Amino acid sequence: MRLVLLGAPGAGKGTQGELLALELGVPRIATGDLLREAMATGTPLGNAMREYVTRGELVPDEVVIGIVKERLEQSDAERGFILDGFPRTEAQAQGLENLLKELRRPLTAAVYLAVDPEDLMERLTQRRVCSQCGATYHLTGRPPKVAGRCDVCHAELIQRADDSAEVIKRRLEVYQAQTEPVLGFYERLGILRRVEGTGSPKEVLSRVKMVLKEGSV
Ligand code: AP5
Ligand code: MG
Repeated sequence: MRLVLLGAPGAGKGTQGELLALELGVPRIATGDLLREAMATGTPLGNAMREYVTRGELVPDEVVIGIVKERLEQSDAERGFILDGFPRTEAQAQGLENLLKELRRPLTAAVYLAVDPEDLMERLTQRRVCSQCGATYHLTGRPPKVAGRCDVCHAELIQRADDSAEVIKRRLEVYQAQTEPVLGFYERLGILRRVEGTGSPKEVLSRVKMVLKEGSV
């Protein structure tokens, strides 16, 4: 199974990506996580990435395509993968097509998680993530057992630097302008699958599994 997860910031790409990766036994490859890891190293490249990410702007295509290429060439991606947050521009989508053609591993489907714009701001301002393992919480919808602490590794929960109302607004604008056209790209290839992204994460997961089985749009 080689999947792309599409959707606005806060649509649940990370949440569904983690659940699907467990079910399918394939790695979830999230460009946002890879970029945050690079930022945490403090290297010149990581610092340059921070400039974009903290403003809610996209990192240049060639940088992200290079990161994804390197990751897809690792052996665990041979049995399949779930791309979360990539591609985000038509140039990235074309770059991925070229790369997968070279590897002779075409995509199975591009799953678009559709969520009403008014829900996205609430989801993102209420999100907290584990500072160590990256597990995701929602203050009311999916609260940790102990306030401020991760259920899995007990480390401190933090708010992502780009989860302030102002930066979320910019991320949503950037999504509309630069990422929405990617839906058309996959529609033209005939592999776009639209899934209603509201309801509990489990409900959304079963819808995703259903469209993957049926192959319907
Ligand atoms: P990235 O980390 O990918 O952020 P994003 O796309 O903005 O998406 P999010 O991670 O914010 O949301 P999500 O869809 O994963 O939702 P989640 O499951 O967490 O990218 C960050 C930045 O990195 C970009 O802005 C850009 O600068 C850079 N970048 C990354 N990729 C790039 C690329 N390809 N090219 C260029 N630049 C790139 O859920 C959100 C919240 O909702 C959580 O609290 C969760 O608990 C809750 N929730 C989830 N599902 C449900 C549900 N069904 N019902 C209720 N609540 C739910
Ligand atoms: Mg995410």
